[in-house]
Amino acid sequence: MQNKVAEQKKVIAFLGGGAMAGAMIHGLLQAGLPIDCLRVAEPGESQRQTLMRQYGIVAVAANPEALQGADVVILAVKPGVVARVLDEISPLLGPEVLVISIAAGITLSALASRLPSGQPLVRVMPNTPALVGAGISALLPAPETTAEKRLLAREIMMAVGLVEEIDNEALMDGITALSGSGPAYVYLMAEALSDGGVACGLPRPLADRLAQRTLLGSAKLMEESGLHPGVLKNQVTSPGGTTIAGLEPLERNGVRGALMAAVMAAWRRSKELSGS
Ligand SMILES: NC(=O)c1ccc[n+]([C@@H]2O[C@H](COP(=O)([O-])OP(=O)(O)OC[C@H]3O[C@@H](n4cnc5c(N)ncnc54)[C@H](OP(=O)(O)O)[C@@H]3O)[C@@H](O)[C@H]2O)c1
Repeated sequence: MQNKVAEQKKVIAFLGGGAMAGAMIHGLLQAGLPIDCLRVAEPGESQRQTLMRQYGIVAVAANPEALQGADVVILAVKPGVVARVLDEISPLLGPEVLVISIAAGITLSALASRLPSGQPLVRVMPNTPALVGAGISALLPAPETTAEKRLLAREIMMAVGLVEEIDNEALMDGITALSGSGPAYVYLMAEALSDGGVACGLPRPLADRLAQRTLLGSAKLMEESGLHPGVLKNQVTSPGGTTIAGLEPLERNGVRGALMAAVMAAWRRSKELSGS
């Protein structure tokens, strides 16, 4: 599948070549971006070798080297390193270079304060299912970023999943709490469902596969049918049957409330960390 980034042959430089950068590089290559349009700066020698071996792309040690000729720079370092990297690259950026930050909790104003005035800039919150092309990313452009650059950021993130564009940074903490942290809640549910199966006498490997596929299939059905989860739940709940018997202890033990509280606790923590 060719997307517009591939057609336009934009040159993309990743600063930081860890898990998220690897996922995005994989997605962009799958989307048809030529290998010579991608480069990555990564200080770790063995990680550089891995990236070159896995994807055949140019991997260098120094950030300024990766920037040469780049149309887009993707900040894929840990949040604590972002300020240092921006100070290093800021004097080297042309005015047309789009900067995309995927660093959790670093606000647009914190990013912009270390960049030349008016630099095209987009803040993105991805999630780990991006590693298998099934992520969802929230995208927040800086106000002065043109429609063309916003579209470019969207096309890049679409290489690893769906994209939701927002225009209110206050939503970022809630997004971090729901889709950023959310995969961990789902894994916890998968583990617990499998434990339930084992308690019923199922062998662990079978219980693991059943739990995993039940979550995956249910999510797919929800997405493809477009039906509300409440409607889909009612469809599998026959009067006096097994499913309603199983739902009763979930409600009695407050699973809905616990999931809401999980998202809200992560939201409060994200606000603390981002200072918002
Ligand atoms: N993974 C997620 O679920 C997720 C979700 C949403 C957002 N994010 C954001 O994505 C960003 C990257 O996360 P990640 O999971 O990919 O982290 P990661 O695997 O630790 O990757 C970061 C990479 O940056 C390298 N690095 C360190 N200092 C550098 C420098 N000065 N210049 C260039 N590269 C440098 C690190 O190398 P060394 O290991 O050698 O130090 C490491 O390979 C983070 O800001 C995170 O907040 C991640």
